Amino acid sequence: MYRTNTCGELRLTDAGRQVTLAGWVQRIRKMGGMTFVDMRDRYGITQVVFNVETNPGLQDAANHLGREYVIQVKGEVAERTSRNPRNPTGDIEIIASEFTVLNPSELPPFTIEDDTDGGDDLRMRYRYLDLRRGAVRRNLELRHRMTMEVRRYLDSKGFLEIETPMLVGSTPEGARDFVVPSRMNPGQFYALPQSPQTLKQLLMVSGMDRYFQIVKCFRDEDLRADRQPEFTQIDCEMSYVDQEDILDLFEGMAVHLFRELRGVELERPFRRMSWADAMKYYGSDKPDLRFGMQFVELMDVMKGHGFSVFDNAAYIGGICAKGAAAYTRKQLDQLTEFVKRPQIGAKGMVYARVESDGNVKSSVDKFYSQEVLQRLKESFNAEPGDLILILSGDDVMKTRKQLCELRLEMGTQLGLRDKNQFACLWVVDFPMFEWSDEEQRLMAMHHPFTHPKKEDIPMLDTDPAAVRADAYDMVINGVEVGGGSIRIHDSRLQAKMFEILGFTPEKAQEQFGFLMNAFKYGAPPHGGLAYGLDRWVSLFAGLDSIRDCIAFPKNNSGRDVMLDAPAPLDQKQLDELQLEIAPVTDK
Ligand code: AMO
Repeated sequence: MYRTNTCGELRLTDAGRQVTLAGWVQRIRKMGGMTFVDMRDRYGITQVVFNVETNPGLQDAANHLGREYVIQVKGEVAERTSRNPRNPTGDIEIIASEFTVLNPSELPPFTIEDDTDGGDDLRMRYRYLDLRRGAVRRNLELRHRMTMEVRRYLDSKGFLEIETPMLVGSTPEGARDFVVPSRMNPGQFYALPQSPQTLKQLLMVSGMDRYFQIVKCFRDEDLRADRQPEFTQIDCEMSYVDQEDILDLFEGMAVHLFRELRGVELERPFRRMSWADAMKYYGSDKPDLRFGMQFVELMDVMKGHGFSVFDNAAYIGGICAKGAAAYTRKQLDQLTEFVKRPQIGAKGMVYARVESDGNVKSSVDKFYSQEVLQRLKESFNAEPGDLILILSGDDVMKTRKQLCELRLEMGTQLGLRDKNQFACLWVVDFPMFEWSDEEQRLMAMHHPFTHPKKEDIPMLDTDPAAVRADAYDMVINGVEVGGGSIRIHDSRLQAKMFEILGFTPEKAQEQFGFLMNAFKYGAPPHGGLAYGLDRWVSLFAGLDSIRDCIAFPKNNSGRDVMLDAPAPLDQKQLDELQLEIAPVTDK
């Protein structure tokens, strides 16, 4: 038997017991006649003492242990004289009577402690060592508990967990596909699924009624803190439901997860906001509602007073930061630099302070009388001590997005984005389509299978850009944690949708014929949603990047630096696949 106990479970009540532990050497402290070794495994850390008086040879041997050696120790559990209240095993230690080195270790490239000295790159290259650190391991434990709770909840609601294939066909809408060449079908390629969207709809046609899958999805898109090229969805689909049924069931799941995993009781129903309002008041389809600072449009107040930047603008809008009038000139300059960064792209920022006497002092005082500035103040219901920040631009949507960045930055600077507070929101009534400058055509905002709102269907012929969809996203603290829609189940409506999206009937048949054909055989009304598991875990763990809750993630250039993937294929494999690599050209 390698061990009688783990390194995390012994307590004072075990004092006097003979035990055997196995684990890694976390740290060694030599104090004269005593050597203390912290032994670690997944469950915790236990202190082992080697005493020169009781066993001189043993202590000498222990002095030669190194960090990360795998050892087995036999000894007696004893009460500690100096207890460590921060460690659950901190009341006891093991007085070693015997130990064995099960495997020595080279010196690890960074310290395996919660506060490590290893940089990001190094830790990713040695991810298996990084995962030994409690801080990372706890995220994986949380991830495990979350998938268990998800299964428990969905099982209790009658969902069946069904696997769908990873080798599927490429679909043109959405992000770029990762493709896999087929040896048996030379010149042909599978695609890895961006999501099991069409397959889960087919499962509804099959009568499965309620499906879920905790499933890997693959998207070849630019990476960000909340995006990985392969990520995991909690993917769900239901038959005979309308939007309310789905929102209710998945709100219930959110409440369940918060209760079981965070001990937080969420208020129901969640707030709802139309996409149009989210864009108007927050400049984002995923507003962070932990704090206010709603946008106020200022075209009426600020236009036409001789300040040409505003006079020529298509949009002028601002936010009011409560109690921030004391911002120094330097802080305001830094905010201006922030909005002018190329990623944000504003041309400048105007500010106005409400002073203690109620007067307003702005950076554009020479263009505006105090009377106009008082109207500005009233637009925000601003009070003495408040700071008003204003952006303008010639593109309404772009300027709103810039103002959104400024709002989030101010929220952060003023400490209004507490990771232990949760603001849940459904964003609903998304537009059905969005215009793509690149493609010069309307594209589906969610995907081409989304059902238009019944009352908007007549506009499909007259004003498709104004049509709204039965689509919804769940947003928590400014993160889109899930999204879905009611689907089209009528093959004629689906055909019409493809027509608006610019597909010829032949092209639609070629790419989505399997789905349209299936719909001819009695497809039930259906809809669903997918949660982003990685984002949920990150939210609960308070992480800045979803990478930290994935065992083996990719870096920002989509590489696995530990496996050194992607990598070239050797000639034999290329020949088998009948592939030839074109010379690399500069993009
Ligand atoms: P959508 O594309 O909105 O919908 O994806 C659903 C959820 O998956 C998460 N997500 C991601 N997480 C990490 N990295 C990524 N690259 C990434 N992309 C998406 C988000 C998102 O809300 N088939 C539809 C769902 C449906 O309609 O039922 C779909 O895939 O949390």
